[in-house]
Amino acid sequence: MTSGLLTEIDHIAIAVRDLEAAIAYYQQAFGAEVHHREIVESDGVEEALIKVADSFIQLTAATRPDSPIAKSIEKRGEGLHHVGYRVDDCAAALAAMIAAGATAIDTVPRPGSRGTTVAFVHPKGSFGTLIELVQE
Ligand code: CO
Repeated sequence: MTSGLLTEIDHIAIAVRDLEAAIAYYQQAFGAEVHHREIVESDGVEEALIKVADSFIQLTAATRPDSPIAKSIEKRGEGLHHVGYRVDDCAAALAAMIAAGATAIDTVPRPGSRGTTVAFVHPKGSFGTLIELVQE
């Protein structure tokens, strides 16, 4: 059995209004600690990563009103925002998705957090899920 180009669920991103409150909640509920924290200025987000086995829960808050996370929360409220699929080769996986009918948001891979290379694919054409391809 193989999942082809997919090697791991890299992260599940949850959009939150108050990052500190969300971190405190995960600490209180699960005893979970923040593994990595980063402000991604280009995306207008601050994220806190909680490690679960080889994957992460990525609590994500907006750092400015025009950030995609701010717009998403305004439109749909807090909650599940996207799923990060880990791949060995982001460009190859993006090309394969486009060939399968996906609509790219990033037409070429770009830098993500943690020194990763990422590309986002639009939920429209991917059964309603915003997908991020993540190459470590
Ligand atoms: Co992500």
